[in-house]
This record gives sequence, structure tokens and C-alpha cells, in this order.
Amino acid sequence: MTTLFRLDASILPTTSSSRELADLVEKEWLSTHPTSTVVRRDLSVEPIPATAWADAVTSNFTPEAERTDGQRAARALSTQLADELVDADALLFAVPLYNYGVSQHFKTWFDLAYTDPRIDPQGTALHGKPATLVTVLGGNYAPGTPKEGWDHSTSWLRRVLADVWGLDLRVVERPFTLVGVNPALDAFAEVAADLKQTAETHAVRSGREIAELTASASS
Ligand SMILES: Cc1cc2nc3c(=O)[nH]c(=O)nc-3n(C[C@H](O)[C@H](O)[C@H](O)COP(=O)(O)O)c2cc1C
Repeated sequence: MTTLFRLDASILPTTSSSRELADLVEKEWLSTHPTSTVVRRDLSVEPIPATAWADAVTSNFTPEAERTDGQRAARALSTQLADELVDADALLFAVPLYNYGVSQHFKTWFDLAYTDPRIDPQGTALHGKPATLVTVLGGNYAPGTPKEGWDHSTSWLRRVLADVWGLDLRVVERPFTLVGVNPALDAFAEVAADLKQTAETHAVRSGREIAELTASASS
């Protein structure tokens, strides 16, 4: 039995562009692995408590018998988060840009998962695991645009998922999702439509790739 782990971080799930793109990735995955399990973690429905990371870190310096309830709960949750990653055959993350930086829900989740020894700086449990990151941006930060360099999320996400965790990562990016929502961006309707189509093509392709990599690894 194969497993896809899917994480969503949009705080507006009913209108979410990142979910739409992740749905395309998941659909491709399921067309290759129709009987597989999809393990979901929706950070808008169930955010990780803001205190959990510090509790998990400080628990490492606290003798077991002296740990607080908060430290015990944080350790249990970090183990659960790491289990979801380690046990999956492939990973799918859908993470929007918020306030020019990484989603706080995602950062809180990442920090806590990263306290688990299997995937901490010495851990290797995620090395080479096929993964797709879908990221969406309300604006456009491409080279030559007025706000080039203001997206402080995507490069960090790449850094931690590909370089730190060692995932075999594909990145599907859709800029200009606020075109059609914010009238100030109406002039960009055509370019936004092109960017959406390109992102959808990439999403389908990456879903197929992670599915095929998993199929060949298990055959
Ligand atoms: C609170 C909030 C802050 C946002 N900050 C930014 C931002 O700094 N830059 C940007 O380009 N888009 C920003 N956006 C727009 C989102 O990136 C965009 O709406 C994206 O499509 C959200 O993901 P979703 O469609 O999956 O919900 C923000 C949206 C919200 C709700």
C-alpha cells in the first residue's frame, strides 16, 4: 500500500488557489496509485500550537520524570508529524505567501517536525523522498518586476525542503493569484491567465513524476 502525505496551509480553504493546484497533483498521483492512502494535514483546521516547538526543544534538556505536560504533549505531536513524513512514499505541500514571508502555520509545523531525531540535522529519513511544493503568490515577484526580491517565502521553502531535509523536490509556483480579486491588478489579467495555465501544467507533470518515482521504487 502506497501513501501520499498532503499538507495544506491556506487560511482561506474555500477559495484556495494552492488547494486547487495541489488537487491536480493529488489527482495525478491517484491515477497511478488508485488504492493508495492520502494522509492529510490541514494547518488551517488544526494549527500546531505556538508553544509546542519551545516545549519540544526544552524537553531535550529536561529529565524525563521532570517534563511538564506541555513538553510531553509537544514530543508526542512532533513524533506524530515526523511519522506522517517518514511513513509516506511521497509528499505534497501547498503553501501560500503571506505578508512577504512564509506562512506562520507552515513554519510552526516545520519547526516542530524538525525536532524529531529522524529528520533533524543528523537525520536522513527523508533523503531522496519524492515531493512537490505548490506555492501561490498574490503578486508577482519575478525578475524585473517592481517588487522583485520581496517574496521571502519560496526560497526558504526550497532551502529547508530540498537542502535541509534532502527531499527530491519539485516546485510548482503560481504568481498573481490576486488578479481578478484586487481591481488594482486588472491590467495583468492576460499574464495572470498564462501563469495559471503554466502552473496547472507543472502541477500535473509533477504529480505524475512523484507517482512514477514511487511506482519504480516499489517495483
Ligand atoms: C493575510 C494575507 C496576507 C497576504 N500577503 C501577501 C503578500 O505579502 N504578498 C502577496 O503577494 N500575496 C499576499 N497574499 C495573497 C495570497 O498569497 C494569495 O491570496 C494566495 O492565493 C493565497 O493562497 P490560497 O489561494 O491558497 O488561499 C496575502 C493574503 C492574505 C490572506
